Amino acid sequence: MEPVFDRDPNLIYLNSANLSLCPGSVLEAVTRYQREFELNPTTGLTQAWDHLWKAQTRLAQFLNANPNDLFLRTNVTATLNTFLLGMPLPPESEILVGELEYGAIVNICRMRAERDHLAWRILAMPQTPTALKSLTPHQLVEHIISQLGAKTKLLLLSHVIAGTGLVLPLSQIAQETRRRGILLAIDGAYAPGALAVDFDDLQDVDFYGCSLYKWMLGPKGTAFGWIAPRHQASIRPLNAGWTTYDIAGPIADFGDQSQFQRSFLMSGCQDFAPYRAIEDTLAFWEENDPSKIRQRMKSLRQHLDLQVTTSLGWSSLSPRDESLQGPMKVYLLPKALQSEGPIFARKLLEKHRIQINMVSLKGQWHIAFSPHIYNSEQEITVAIDRIAAMTR
Ligand SMILES: Cc1ncc(COP(=O)(O)O)c(C=O)c1O
Repeated sequence: MEPVFDRDPNLIYLNSANLSLCPGSVLEAVTRYQREFELNPTTGLTQAWDHLWKAQTRLAQFLNANPNDLFLRTNVTATLNTFLLGMPLPPESEILVGELEYGAIVNICRMRAERDHLAWRILAMPQTPTALKSLTPHQLVEHIISQLGAKTKLLLLSHVIAGTGLVLPLSQIAQETRRRGILLAIDGAYAPGALAVDFDDLQDVDFYGCSLYKWMLGPKGTAFGWIAPRHQASIRPLNAGWTTYDIAGPIADFGDQSQFQRSFLMSGCQDFAPYRAIEDTLAFWEENDPSKIRQRMKSLRQHLDLQVTTSLGWSSLSPRDESLQGPMKVYLLPKALQSEGPIFARKLLEKHRIQINMVSLKGQWHIAFSPHIYNSEQEITVAIDRIAAMTR
């Protein structure tokens, strides 16, 4: 597979979990749609809803979801704001937030709790090499379920945990939260693209959101949220606009006439070029075969792990159970580097031109590598050799 990406030849980019590179064909499509829009922005906007619905429908096919259950936003933070601040919760509810959730999303939960005078609590998650190594899916589900309380009404977790790369067995967790009447909101930032996410398996989940410019290689400024059909009548969007009540004109046909689709639509004047290019992103995936892309990502990860283990001897946070292994490889920094943490990451970038992510777990610094299909075994070897030379 020789996909075309604009690469900086002097940079080894290994942070695709946060922000991936976008294929040249997708970048070109965004520019082309922008230029087309600017020829006559008035007609450009009237035609935008049709393009947007087509993109949403194609995205739904890719995820095996119903397009009527999706909505588009600029990032996953915005989609989670929509659900976490907009979903009705009974008084006296408790919001439970996974210990390793992304700070921006934790703050949404905190704001919701403060706004509505609700309690919120942190759910402990495994995060040491020893705790993760022998973890089984059953133990992980039990660990999470055992922390649900009588008052818990909303649980926020990631599909792939950012700090450790651990994959959660979502359908098992969701079965139990639904049985107990607890809403399960999933931050899917690190999953679609890296994992074959299929919404047929996730019908007990209540909300799922993902930015498309992480593992999905999509245009920056595109993300989707998914809300289970059973909640669509009770949730209101955070912003009101043209489509909140009655609608007319070119927007009227959006989303198979569903009131949920209309009221969640971004209906102000804007250029939707990046959203239109979601179709080009999915064409890229289909042309290259999603299972082959994931297979390639896996062999790059295996290569990286072999290099780190043999050249650096660092402790990995990956569980042995393959179903729990996510798309990133996370390692505990050795004692000698613990005092450096982010300074080490800066040195890696500035002196050695390696882009990684540094994460702190229980006050200990860890390095996260996220290779994607634009990386090669050779550059991964170079990166690890450079790190080994620095730490010698
Ligand atoms: C796990 C996780 N959730 C949410 C986000 C927020 O993503 P965005 O800034 O695209 O909304 C990030 C950012 O990388 C993340 O790592």
